[in-house]
Amino acid sequence: MQEKKHPIMFHLGVALLLLISTVSSSHGIEANPRRHVDVGVVRGAYYPSWVSATFPPSSIRTSLFTHIYYAFLSPSNSTFALLVDNPALLSSFVSGIRSKSPSVKTLISIGGASDGPALFAAMASTPSSRKAFIDSTIKVARDYGFDGLDLDWEFPRNPKEMQDLALLFQDWRAAISHEARVTRRPPLILTAAVYFAAEFFLSGTPRAYPIDSIRSNLDWINAMCYDYRGSWDTSATGAQAAFFDPKSNISSSYGLGTWLRAGLPGHKIVMGLPLYGRTWKLKDPNVNGVGAPAVGVGPGNGVLFYRQVETFSKDNNATKKYDPVTVSAYAFSGTSWVGYDDAGSTGVKVGLAKGMRLRGYFFWALSYDNSHWQISTQAYKAWSVRI
Ligand SMILES: *[C@@H]1O[C@H](CO)[C@@H](O)[C@H](O)[C@H]1NC(C)=O
Ligand SMILES: *[C@@H]1O[C@H](CO)[C@@H](O)[C@H](O)[C@H]1NC(C)=O
Ligand SMILES: *[C@@H]1O[C@H](CO)[C@@H](O)[C@H](O)[C@H]1NC(C)=O
Repeated sequence: MQEKKHPIMFHLGVALLLLISTVSSSHGIEANPRRHVDVGVVRGAYYPSWVSATFPPSSIRTSLFTHIYYAFLSPSNSTFALLVDNPALLSSFVSGIRSKSPSVKTLISIGGASDGPALFAAMASTPSSRKAFIDSTIKVARDYGFDGLDLDWEFPRNPKEMQDLALLFQDWRAAISHEARVTRRPPLILTAAVYFAAEFFLSGTPRAYPIDSIRSNLDWINAMCYDYRGSWDTSATGAQAAFFDPKSNISSSYGLGTWLRAGLPGHKIVMGLPLYGRTWKLKDPNVNGVGAPAVGVGPGNGVLFYRQVETFSKDNNATKKYDPVTVSAYAFSGTSWVGYDDAGSTGVKVGLAKGMRLRGYFFWALSYDNSHWQISTQAYKAWSVRI
């Protein structure tokens, strides 16, 4: 642990300088800081409920987190009411976390990559379908003792669906406030998992998130700062969660900057961190950096959880490197190559997020860390460092 400190702090310093110079020169955000809002840090993580047989809620090291999301519940495609497929697991999730760490908040995350965007588009398109959805989400959250709700609609596909998303957040916040007044309980927390940038500029119809509605109605967004590169492009290796990319706008510094420049304050932005890597098969084992030519996917059919990256590296005596340009790690052996976040890159990114005055960070997904919670622990420590 100890010997890692110095390189991390060095890269953090360099990276911060770079970041501050880009942010302040472009739009004057640093020159005209918003009023300081004193809100607690978010150290979030998603719990993938489908791993519960091997990774029950009781095995979560709750002390490393402030907010733990149950992933996922889905709305019915006919009534739009939330479907509760495993009530026992929902109960044991809340009670397991609460008994260990009473101050940790629990949220239900709704949707995820496997729920198609059409379901949410249909739900959000009329006042009555929004109401059916919203009322059921509040009821399920209260019935099972959750503290909040999270929407993971991947993704609204056009400007009309973005307008409907704005209305959904507005109706949802109104219903949450009303319920809190009537029941005299703290209002449920309301968040959303969103694209890494405030606009979709890489594919599909150009469209932007409804910033005004997000600012007024959500507690914060979880920006999914990962999946930038992967098995859909096997021509070259890549840093799937590059913080910086000198050659493109596909980076967290760019994406997070778009949210800030669009007018969302830093205390409403939480940066995503992946606890998994993405793999490629190198064209030439001797050309093995970030961006090296590749000819296919690597081990794990393109994805290795962090704990599997460790096993891969050990079993194959892989060479491990840190790439300061993108703030990422990679490991390779022969033609097998994996790009991921290790303790070092995670620590630097968390420091950068703090330097941008964001609210905190979250992980996808907490069961992918290694058995001693190395990466989650590093993130915890890095946010606690005074900078
Ligand atoms: C709606 O959900 C039901 C059950 O969950 C499923 O069988 C059906 O295929 C879905 N229909 C559509 C149009 O997605
Ligand atoms: C990145 O985005 C900015 C606008 O935000 C644009 O001016 C610039 O050309 C983009 N850079 C690349 C490499 O696409
Ligand atoms: C592991 O790799 C290093 C070079 O990275 C090499 O010196 C060493 O001999 C290798 N060990 C084994 C057991 O293959």
